[in-house]
Parts: sequence; C-alpha cells; structure tokens
Amino acid sequence: MPKNSKAQIFDAIKNFTKENKVSFHMPGHFGGILLPEKLKAENNIFAFDITEVEGLDYLHQPNGVIKNAQKLAAKAFGADKTFFLVNGSTVGVISMIMASVLPGEKILVQRNSHQSVISGLTIGRCKPVWMKPELVYGTLIATGISSQTLKKAILENPDAKAVLLTSPNYLGMTQDMQELICIAHENNLIVLVDEAHGAHFHFNSNLPSSSVDLGADIVTQSTHKNLPALTQTALLHTNGTRFEIQRLKTILSMLQSSSPSYLLMSSIDCCIEMVTEQGEELINKAIETAHYGRKILNEIDSVEVFNEELIGTKGIKDWDKTKLIIDVSKTEMSGFKIKSILHEKYRIEIEFASINYLLCLITAGNTKKDIDKLSHSLKEILLNRKENEMKIAQIKTKNLSIFARDLPDQKFTPSEVLYMNSKTVNLEEAIGKVSKNIITPYPPGIPYLCPGEIITKNLIREIEVLKINGALIQGIHNNTVEVISS
Ligand SMILES: Cc1ncc(COP(=O)(O)O)c(C=O)c1O
Repeated sequence: MPKNSKAQIFDAIKNFTKENKVSFHMPGHFGGILLPEKLKAENNIFAFDITEVEGLDYLHQPNGVIKNAQKLAAKAFGADKTFFLVNGSTVGVISMIMASVLPGEKILVQRNSHQSVISGLTIGRCKPVWMKPELVYGTLIATGISSQTLKKAILENPDAKAVLLTSPNYLGMTQDMQELICIAHENNLIVLVDEAHGAHFHFNSNLPSSSVDLGADIVTQSTHKNLPALTQTALLHTNGTRFEIQRLKTILSMLQSSSPSYLLMSSIDCCIEMVTEQGEELINKAIETAHYGRKILNEIDSVEVFNEELIGTKGIKDWDKTKLIIDVSKTEMSGFKIKSILHEKYRIEIEFASINYLLCLITAGNTKKDIDKLSHSLKEILLNRKENEMKIAQIKTKNLSIFARDLPDQKFTPSEVLYMNSKTVNLEEAIGKVSKNIITPYPPGIPYLCPGEIITKNLIREIEVLKINGALIQGIHNNTVEVISS
C-alpha cells in the first residue's frame, strides 16, 4: 500500500477551486456559472453519466435522439452535417485529415498549427507541405498565411489533395478565409479548418465569420473553449461532397470512445440550445467588458493592448473582440513572469503568456471589477519589478521566433520517424540532428519543431531564452532531447 493513499487530483482541484480567484481562462463556462440553466438545475447531474441504453441512441450509429441533436446542431451552425465530439477538437482535427488525404498524399498545412495536426499527419501517414504564416513584429505573434503563400504552395505542389488552415489563431486573429477557401476550391483542394477557438463566431454579428459559413469543407470547433460546454466537448461540421463522408464517420468511430459520455453530449446539446437563443446577448456582454479592458489597460505605462489597427495587415483579416492581447514587450519583464506573479500574488488566472504578451479570455461571466483588479495588479507588478526579473527579460531578442526565419529543414515526415530508433542527447549535441518528437512551448502547443526536422543552433538558443524566462517546453526534459539515432 502506498503511504499516502489520498486522492491526489481531487485534493489538488479542491484546493484550486476553493480560493476566490479572478479568471480570464478557459473553459468558457466560467467555473460552471455560464453553463445552461437546464444543466445547472439538475440535482443529480451524475445520473446523466450513463452508458448507451435502449432509447438513448448510439453516437457511432445515431438513429434517435443523438441523430436529432446533431441535426439541430448542423442547423444552428449552418452546416450540412455536424458530429458531436467527446475528445475535443483534437479528434476532429485528426479525423478530418485522415478522411481527406490518403497515406502518402500531400497536404498543404499552415505551419502555426496545433500539435493535433501533427498527430493527424502522423497517424494518417500523409506528407505535409508547410506554409509559413505572417508575423506581427514586436510581439512575434504568428497569424495567417497570405494568398500569395497559398498560391505558391499550390503551384509547387499541384498533386496536393487538401489544405489545412487554422483560423482564428489562439489569440483570436482570423485570416482572409473567404479568399483562401476560394483559391483552394478553384484548385480542387479540400479545405479543412481548425476553428477550435471560433465556435462562438456564428452566434454574434460583431465577431469574424465562421469558416462553416464561408464554405470550408470540414471544420472543427471546441465548444469548451469559447462556448459554455464541458471540457473535451467539440463539434465537427461538414459542407458539400468534396470528401467521402462515410470514411469520416468510420474514422470518427474508430478514434472516439465506444462509451461516449452522455454528460458531455448533453452539455453540447444544451449549450447549442442556449447560444442559439442567447448567444448574441452573452457575447455582446463579453465584448463590452473586453472593450473596457482595452481602454483601462492601455493607460498603463509601456503596455499596449491589441486593437483594430492591425486589421488588414500581417495576415490578420479580423479579430475576436472577446480576447485581450496585452503587449508587454516594452515592460522589460517577460509575459511568463507577469503571469506567474498574477497567479501567485494576486490570484488572477490568465489564459496564456508568451515572452512578449499576455492573453486574457473574456466571457459574459467577467465584470469590469475583474478588469480593474487586473489593471491594478499589473501596475503594481511593473512598479515593483525586481532587478533579477528585468535582467532575464533583457535577454529577449528581436528575432526570437521560428516564424521570423526560414522554416526548419524536413528530413523525414512525422509518420516516417514514428517507428525510427532514437536516443537522448543534451541540447548542444542535438544541433544538426533530426528530432524524434514535437518540440513546442506549451500552451499553446504550436510546434517549433516537428518530428523529422533538423535541430538548429538558432532553435536551441531560442528555446534556452524561452526556458530561462519561464516557458514550459514539451519535447525537452532536463535539457535533453530525443533524436533519431540511425
Ligand atoms: C488551434 C487548436 N486546435 C486544436 C486544439 C485541440 O483542441 P481540444 O483541446 O478541444 O482537443 C487546440 C487546443 O488548445 C488548439 O489551440
């Protein structure tokens, strides 16, 4: 028997939730507060945690309530068909790649894609052709790809089968999807869109257009990120017949649990009912609070908050006004450090920090009081910044982004390296060798290096800077990395 047999995760969550925190963080249901009334009103919600029984239909062969719920969802989002996902957009992304591109075929992929895209390319054994995104200098935020980039990739790869785009990015910036979809379709490419962060777009006229509305062929969206549904819930929408729908269904049933959670499916169902009725109003409330945040935070010395000015430049077509992107590049502190002080000292949880910026997710549950607390805390942190914190930040370099340089050389595809032998080496030794794994700051999980790519000196330097500034880098353990050994 282990000495300490207490439930570890439960205790940790209990501790985490008992404190009175200000949250600018996912999930979008804001600690349950924004969940649909129907779900909240249930006295024993655990009774919903059932398995497939007579009368409650089957996710993998729906013919009853699940079929009807998915039909209503398709209508609500303006799609031909919609599938409920109980393993996040992760399973949606993997499935849409595998359903559209056969093993060995090429797919054009925007480089700043989530790691689930790399998983899809690996399992689906397809050949990625990377497309470099535009970059907002100063903050080093990678945005969308230009139409020229897509046209060039098509010209150089006339045999490509599909294109995979991610819009919005983690920060809520969208690219010119209408134009990109049009170019892709003119060239007979299937358009796959990772819209994990845009499930709310369709429900508010002040937000960018959803790629479902713009005619993309398959689109995945996380309902737990920006809509009030439970974590792991997501949707996969389809339009038209450019791909084989039956193959998509088969893959979804292979990759999703054979015991899908009815609690999660009910949560998606009720969430859609709720946003169809109240989406415009709830999202407007969030936009109003975020707008207040932009005004107040912009008044802080050396802090700038992203606003409309960048629209139409740098691969940005539009943006999600419920997000606050706070540029701290001129504060001489790293975003990581500020995030950690906000958490430790002020009990403020923000969604994400990078070396140069902070990201806050604003929902209808946030108030102007939350923003005031953030603003006061940020002012205090910057006023009291310590010498050692500033020194670390001063190492920030101007070109500290993989997207500011040429993309790494790809020696093997991600699926080729999956079964190759590897060995663990220290970072200096790794230079010039082929990476076995994804190397990515987490969150958000946008790979710096994909499996099969060559590790460069620049990359190692960049990772070292990120690490001393407080970033968590997946794929690197105790300053070692796995490389292909044969
Ligand atoms: C752009 C993007 N795509 C896909 C995913 C995976 O989504 P999920 O957490 O719903 O599986 C994420 C998660 O953060 C993401 O940021």
